[in-house]
Amino acid sequence: MIKGKFSKITIGRGILDQISSEIRSIGPSKVCIITNRIVSKNWLDKVLEAIHLNNGLETIEIGDGERYKNITTATYIWRRLLEKKFTRKSLLIALGGGVVGDLAGFVASTFMRGIYFSQVPTTLLAQVDSGIGGKTGINFKGKNTIGTFYQPKFILVDTQFLDTLPNLEYLNGLAEVVKYGVIRDVEFFKFLENNVGEIKAKDQLVLQKIVKRCVEMKVSVVEADERETGLRMILNFGHTFGHSIEKLTNYRLRHGFAVSIGMMMASKVATEITGFHQLDRLESLLKNLGLPTSTKLDLESVVKETSKDKKAWYGKTVLVLPERIGKVTINEVEQKDILRILRK
Ligand SMILES: NC(=O)c1ccc[n+]([C@@H]2O[C@H](COP(=O)([O-])OP(=O)(O)OC[C@H]3O[C@@H](n4cnc5c(N)ncnc54)[C@H](O)[C@@H]3O)[C@@H](O)[C@H]2O)c1
Repeated sequence: MIKGKFSKITIGRGILDQISSEIRSIGPSKVCIITNRIVSKNWLDKVLEAIHLNNGLETIEIGDGERYKNITTATYIWRRLLEKKFTRKSLLIALGGGVVGDLAGFVASTFMRGIYFSQVPTTLLAQVDSGIGGKTGINFKGKNTIGTFYQPKFILVDTQFLDTLPNLEYLNGLAEVVKYGVIRDVEFFKFLENNVGEIKAKDQLVLQKIVKRCVEMKVSVVEADERETGLRMILNFGHTFGHSIEKLTNYRLRHGFAVSIGMMMASKVATEITGFHQLDRLESLLKNLGLPTSTKLDLESVVKETSKDKKAWYGKTVLVLPERIGKVTINEVEQKDILRILRK
């Protein structure tokens, strides 16, 4: 258990039952679970059983997928909460992956100027990344253009949810796992290298260790820099190129796969800018895990697209570049230099 500055986080397998005592410690007037039909089909009964509330418990199901992370869905939930007479003392629980988490967090932060919120992340990506840190958002004429920072009261990270997760979604989350090793912890990176077979087989002990370490790293970064004015930017390693790739493939390539390629591109740029010399090691780990390391997209288009990144500074591209595995720095790099290095 991590008693963080912002949220109480419990991590383990089969810990779902603790949800009822977490809810009781908040003492909300009403509780609403926001989920989607896929997660609901697999897990809602178990969650309702664990919550064990007869009155004042509602469930709102939304459609499955990124395209539902929008203002129409947010409005639908706001309306339902008003109809059900939810107040500022009510609690919203996000039960799902990053889409449900981002959307429910946004709704919780805006309804009545903010009601109690908690996260029960059910994808690997949400357990190691999106469910932690308090970034909420919806898509509006672009990805995550509208959103808030809003911290959950508690986060329950139960790795048993991953039992029903499709392999593609599991891999999607693994890219973020590798990211943590590169940005913050060489020992963790080595652990991943030494346990590729176990990771692919979803070995429970290995999986719990991984999730726990990633959560710890995310919490330490977010607690030092909640609003991303400095340190938190390191979490964007691989994401600047990743976002361009996602956009150019019309979001057909999943986020983690694009980030995997993006980490390779950033690391290649780093070979000249920071003297990074462990590109082969990163490539091997990503490939061994089954993640992509290159793209057939036109390099110039990918690089051009990076200037539209939310984090771009005055037209230059801001890149998180590794110096070595376990240590990254933030750099402003001219697009022509990026292209020159990548073309080598
Ligand atoms: N807030 C943040 O800090 C942050 C960080 C990274 C990503 N994100 C956001 O996260 C979203 C992506 O999240 P995601 O990758 O979790 O995608 P997702 O929420 O779409 O989930 C992926 C798929 O898995 C299904 N699913 C979820 N849990 C399941 C389970 N236990 N068993 C079976 N199926 C399950 C979902 O229904 C969906 O079809 C994006 O919108 C992205 O912008 C936010």
